[in-house]
Amino acid sequence: MRDKIIVGNWKMNNDNKNTEELLTKLKSYPIPINVRTLVAPSFTQLSQCVKKLEKSKLNVAAQNMNAEDSGAYTGEISAGMLKGIGVTTVILGHSERRSLFHETDFILEKKVNTALKEEMEIIFCFGEKLPERNSNKHFEVVTQQLKKSLFSFPKTAWRKINLAYEPVWAIGTGETASPGQAQEMHNHIRKLIAENYDQETADCVSILYGGSVKPSNAQDIFKGPDVDGGLIGGASLNADDFMAIVNAF
Ligand code: PGA
Repeated sequence: MRDKIIVGNWKMNNDNKNTEELLTKLKSYPIPINVRTLVAPSFTQLSQCVKKLEKSKLNVAAQNMNAEDSGAYTGEISAGMLKGIGVTTVILGHSERRSLFHETDFILEKKVNTALKEEMEIIFCFGEKLPERNSNKHFEVVTQQLKKSLFSFPKTAWRKINLAYEPVWAIGTGETASPGQAQEMHNHIRKLIAENYDQETADCVSILYGGSVKPSNAQDIFKGPDVDGGLIGGASLNADDFMAIVNAF
């Protein structure tokens, strides 16, 4: 009904040499047919990954892109540029983009709009911060993030949108949402999509969990019926760990 997806978010790690070594190792593993597996390197390593993974079951995603098609945006990369090198999937709204690079819900809505126009697949990230969880505002925060950036698009847009719930307090901290907390939020998200669109649309959206997923906790997290995969940071830099997670369903 919906895809199981694992994405390795390499963040600002892996130069050419490390990329070559990691990809060689990743390619030596069998990938389960029911799990779509992607790596998301830095912009400078995208072409290398596309070429090296050409005939493999692994795919490549970008970590970000600009909402504009072209112009005076020094240091930025457009959707067209990504597509030109064979990258058709993009991560948008990662918490590091939101907090360190000031990407707002409004900017992200524009980026989603561009990605959809360019027929790119999106992995849209969102999630609450620790004080928001502690004051029991996590459902409301997530609801607003989705509403402001995604719910203005038509139902057909959801063919191209995957979600990644990443509680900010669990990213790179070693702290993970419990399997119960992840499933509870994923269920809330699916209900929201059903309310704003319909149940059929909601049932088809893959909702990934991200935040300190490791080989030791992946299986328990993925047991949640609404948890359709993971966005993996730290553990995706090690081929054995990443593949253990890919095989955790
Ligand atoms: P982490 O990162 O697995 O290192 O917590 C996840 C992410 O930032 O996507």
